Amino acid sequence: MVSVDQIRKAQRAEGTASILAIGTANPPSYFDQSKFPDIYFNMTNSQHMTELKKKMQRMCDKTMIKKRHMYVTNEFVKENPYLREYSMPSLDARQDKAAILISELGKEAANKAIEEWGQPKSKITHLICCTTMGAFLPGIDYRIVKLLGLDLSIKRIMLYQQGCNGGGTVLRIAKDLAENNKGARVLIVVSEVTLVGMHGPSETDVDVLVSHSLFGDGSAALIVGADPVPSVENPIFELVSTAPILLPDSPEAISGAIRESGLLIHIGKEVPQLIANNIEKRLIEVFKPLGISDWNSIFWAAHPGGPAILDQIQAKLSLNPEKLRATRHVLGEYGNMSSVTVLFVLDEMRKKSAKDGLKTTGEGLEWGVLFGFGPGLTIETLVLHSVNVA
Ligand SMILES: CC(C)(COP(=O)(O)OP(=O)(O)OC[C@H]1O[C@@H](n2cnc3c(N)ncnc32)[C@H](O)[C@@H]1OP(=O)(O)O)[C@@H](O)C(=O)NCCC(=O)NCCS
Repeated sequence: MVSVDQIRKAQRAEGTASILAIGTANPPSYFDQSKFPDIYFNMTNSQHMTELKKKMQRMCDKTMIKKRHMYVTNEFVKENPYLREYSMPSLDARQDKAAILISELGKEAANKAIEEWGQPKSKITHLICCTTMGAFLPGIDYRIVKLLGLDLSIKRIMLYQQGCNGGGTVLRIAKDLAENNKGARVLIVVSEVTLVGMHGPSETDVDVLVSHSLFGDGSAALIVGADPVPSVENPIFELVSTAPILLPDSPEAISGAIRESGLLIHIGKEVPQLIANNIEKRLIEVFKPLGISDWNSIFWAAHPGGPAILDQIQAKLSLNPEKLRATRHVLGEYGNMSSVTVLFVLDEMRKKSAKDGLKTTGEGLEWGVLFGFGPGLTIETLVLHSVNVA
């Protein structure tokens, strides 16, 4: 009979991948969430749609978001007037702008991650790029290689259309790469800008209001590798195990399509409950072998898709409110930045843990969980192990 201690040791054996650095970036312009409905209806010349504006105000007031960074400002809309329309064919122009902004923001986050890592770029062996907001050939990965001056033989993976689970997906892939290629150092660059999905309001499409109440722009970059070089590389979290799942019979709960008018996203009202009803099964699957069944004894980094998701998870699992502090903090300060958001949560958690003088990067605790939620409905689950704060 194998003991829990033996399983814990085996899962964290030599060669387990760790996050070695995190960098984040946002566009400089941001909006106060409480004023956003007024700004949005103004910039889209839609002030006459008073009832819709009131509805959006009710949504924004419930989001628990304080501010969101976005490239799309009043000036930006004046220069790109197709953004005001609900369904004007404009994909070419949106894509051209997005390709530049996604890459520039990704570069900024990547430079911060590389600086924290402190190693030469030539040591990066793999590059994973991820964005929901576009599709280009050559891809964002090509642009990142050029912008950062990376080796042209770097092993690249480009992920499009992951949606909000993408932050978990890139970590899952990076773990596999780092653990199966000796000496690999994986640079992850995840970057999301909302302008591909920016539309004017429509009386017949409430989805536009929901997504424009929640989403913001941001980028996160990480370095992942196994066997950190002592005194040279400083691990932040160990990536212990991964367990993605597609929930059966929920393909339409979160869905989207790139149309001639840009990206259209649907977020069903059933999403928070679907997630809450399935989350404990995910926790039991990954933590039972480790002998952990008290969900308040671990640290939490969940994708903050919206406050209703977090409220329902908290209630369903009887979580102490402080368990979702880092997650709610990121939602409040940045909104939902799709695949990027949960990576901001990791950054926030390790920084606050150090600032508060806690023993580990995981709020003083040893084991933790990361959840990504996205189309499918996809739940990405990762078991994390914290590291002692230096
Ligand atoms: C959107 C959200 C912040 C609204 O907060 P709430 O506590 O549900 O607030 P309410 O129930 O008062 O809803 C406010 C309004 O938004 C509408 N609404 C809420 N969720 C909606 C959805 N998914 N689709 C369409 N309308 C929605 C409500 O019908 C209500 O409209 P009304 O004021 O005209 O009656 C919240 O529902 C949320 O966090 N949803 C989760 C978002 C999500 O699934 N994100 C996943 C992306 S990964």
